[in-house]
Amino acid sequence: MVFRILVLFLAFMVINSIALADQQTYIVHIDKTKIEASIHSQDSLKPWAESIIDFISEASMQEEDEEILAPQLLYTYETSMFGFAARLSKKHLKYLNQLDGFISALPDELSTLHTTYSPHFLGLSNGRALWTASNLASDVIIGVLDSGIWPEHISFQDTGMSPIPSHWKGVCEQGTKFSSSNCNKKLIGARAYYKGYENYAGKINQTVDYLSPRDSQGHGTHTASTAAGDVVKNASLFGLARGTASGIKYTSRIAAYKVCWPSGCTNSDVLAAMDQAVSDGVDVLSLSLGTIPKPFYNDSIAIASFGATKRGVFVACSAGNSGPFPSTVANGAPWIMTVAASSTDRTFPTKVKLGNGESLKGSSLYQGKKTNQLPVAYGKSAGPKREARYCIQGSLDPKLVHGKIVACERGINGRTEKGEEVKVAGGAGMILLNTENHGEELFADSHILPATSLGASASKTVRSYIQSVKKPTASISFIGTRFGDPAPVMAAFSSRGPSIVGPDVIKPDVTAPGVNILAAWPTNISPSFLKSDKRRVLFNILSGTSMSCPHVSGIAALLKSLHKDWSPAAIKSALMTTAYTLNNKGDPISDIASLNSPLANPFSFGSGHVNPVSASDPGLVYDISTIDYLNYLCSINYTSSQIALLSRGNFLCSKKAVLKAGDMNYPSFAVLFGRSDLNASLTYKRVVTNVGKKQSSYAVKVEQPNGISVTVEPRKLKFVKLGQKLSYKVTFLATGGARVGGTSSFGSLIWVSGRYKVRSPIAVTWQ
Ligand SMILES: *[C@@H]1O[C@H](CO)[C@@H](O)[C@H](O)[C@H]1NC(C)=O
Ligand SMILES: *[C@@H]1O[C@H](CO)[C@@H](O)[C@H](O)[C@H]1NC(C)=O
Ligand SMILES: *[C@@H]1O[C@H](CO)[C@@H](O)[C@H](O)[C@H]1NC(C)=O
Ligand SMILES: *[C@@H]1O[C@H](CO)[C@@H](O)[C@H](O)[C@H]1NC(C)=O
Ligand SMILES: *[C@@H]1O[C@H](CO)[C@@H](O)[C@H](O)[C@H]1NC(C)=O
Repeated sequence: MVFRILVLFLAFMVINSIALADQQTYIVHIDKTKIEASIHSQDSLKPWAESIIDFISEASMQEEDEEILAPQLLYTYETSMFGFAARLSKKHLKYLNQLDGFISALPDELSTLHTTYSPHFLGLSNGRALWTASNLASDVIIGVLDSGIWPEHISFQDTGMSPIPSHWKGVCEQGTKFSSSNCNKKLIGARAYYKGYENYAGKINQTVDYLSPRDSQGHGTHTASTAAGDVVKNASLFGLARGTASGIKYTSRIAAYKVCWPSGCTNSDVLAAMDQAVSDGVDVLSLSLGTIPKPFYNDSIAIASFGATKRGVFVACSAGNSGPFPSTVANGAPWIMTVAASSTDRTFPTKVKLGNGESLKGSSLYQGKKTNQLPVAYGKSAGPKREARYCIQGSLDPKLVHGKIVACERGINGRTEKGEEVKVAGGAGMILLNTENHGEELFADSHILPATSLGASASKTVRSYIQSVKKPTASISFIGTRFGDPAPVMAAFSSRGPSIVGPDVIKPDVTAPGVNILAAWPTNISPSFLKSDKRRVLFNILSGTSMSCPHVSGIAALLKSLHKDWSPAAIKSALMTTAYTLNNKGDPISDIASLNSPLANPFSFGSGHVNPVSASDPGLVYDISTIDYLNYLCSINYTSSQIALLSRGNFLCSKKAVLKAGDMNYPSFAVLFGRSDLNASLTYKRVVTNVGKKQSSYAVKVEQPNGISVTVEPRKLKFVKLGQKLSYKVTFLATGGARVGGTSSFGSLIWVSGRYKVRSPIAVTWQ
């Protein structure tokens, strides 16, 4: 949900300053090898952690005269990472620091949520290709970490489903308005985590949220149904987007882990849920949430994802909604599948007709009759305060806007909230104006009055028309659901690379549908999120990388049941090397933000748009082992204690081998040159595994980035059996003159054999 970000961010700042005043929650990482003597072999970590907490409590009490709050253990972590979360003061921390095996204590922090036709857009349809009975075996479990779930929704019914897979060890936790009978053979597990949140933000207000896995925000219900919701015929929102709604792997099981509450999701809760999900037996983890980018050793999601990947769990995360600005991509650790967002060809067009006869195209989910040609109010002509331009609550003057269409700038408050303000003030309609940064991106929202969003250039036209005439007028008409627009187009809000914490890997990895996605919705939340809106719907349309991430989680589940022996890295490779970069009209995928170039590049879509059908049979895969990831961390000079966070203390960087970040067996190439590196060259090594045809011969094809000469050795790979691994080297030579720092050029390297095209993007950046 794009508009929630600002609200959640403000909440975060206020809460944080209170928390700093006294105790706060820390996530404590422990080197397992150093404490093994003090924990009894098969025991859980909990008794040990409790004794540590008791120890620092006593120690600090002896020293202190004044009364201080006792430390409090919140969680112990043993599966995805090793350590615990506890509420501690600075003094307690000092004692903890002296502990044998202590690695680090990271202050807890809030992440924010990032927010069906898409199966069809992805080439999935019943009885064809991937959606055939054998591929839809219901043995895969997708764990969704989000705002919970609305279990009664028709998308989570379990009619005809086989018994729950035997590897499942999770539970259906009871709580407010949630009982164990709310789970079934589709929704096989549900848990809620709020110890970290309550320590951070105070007690959960039970009039606005449930102390249980039940969803009070809608986000978790929407994402879970996108990944694995059942098939529901004749789904729509007010008749819009009518069709069969279905999760991408609609036969997968869902385990809902509620970690997000009204102001966000704390890392300590997210870690507890990931730890539990992995030991519960999930096969795929889907996280549509994140923080600002930070080094992997300081990034809880990166650390827990490493542990999950090591146990064979595929982790997909949203890239974030902080685009179109560069280097905003979050969740960018190489073992995570980082998902960007783009549009499908389905739109909800509107037509705005100005008094001068000009006609502009917009978008809305409002369904009603066309408005009359009405006077337009904007800024000063809508209210005396400056806030009137943004239609902030209480800013519009009813005398000035009564019966008129009000033009409102995007930003500050929610898009549907602006409409609410216009309606409350007596306005008859609203036009939502994009700034240059929003580009031509059109959000379809469930407005409570006749309203439409307009792109940046149409918005400019409207502003200058309003200024040029004394009595501006406009009308809005609503056209319904249309198909056939050029698609995909990269969303402006989708966070961009290059990654500032790991620039030697291209991030995001892929893009997937994340604009105007129809999916399941709780029956007690209005589609506009407004309290005053009494409409109730079964399906709602949302946009965000939160929506694109569960598409990829669903596809990963499909690949997982098809190829049971594939590692998370192999699934990721299949999705990346088969991604496409041309749109439905055969032209290169464009970028709606158009800041520099109208064309999208690997820093907006990674390897391209996911293609599940091709990914199921990729020909070759680039596999990566846990050791390879650790070697990568050595190559980027992480210290041994930083690496111990991930490896759990039993890994030493090789002193002998010269490790290069570029040698990690990643399915794409990020190449970094200094700006004055003339004739400099870098050589990377890769190993590909044959998963296609037993006997096959691949030839390399290269699209050279501007100013770079690429040579591949050997240029042919001949396989004689399945599972065979062959290696090659690729050399990038900077042939051009000096470059401006921060510029990039792009190309690709493709291994071709018959119908197989194993493509890796190349992004060269002059630093
Ligand atoms: C990592 O986290 C530690 C502990 O909070 C902090 O002191 C340090 O500045 C962080 N490093 C970076 C690069 O963010
Ligand atoms: C809980 O939320 C309700 C509704 O927003 C509010 O009226 C009430 O004051 C809140 N209670 C507390 C204890 O904050
Ligand atoms: C589809 O649902 C609409 C209500 O949203 C209903 O009017 C219509 O009859 C339904 N069509 C079918 C074929 O069930
Ligand atoms: C790591 O350290 C080596 C040796 O000091 C240096 O050459 C290299 O550039 C460093 N790499 C990174 C990614 O900082
Ligand atoms: C780079 O190579 C070109 C062609 O081989 C040569 O003419 C040029 O002098 C070289 N430049 C530098 C700085 O080495």
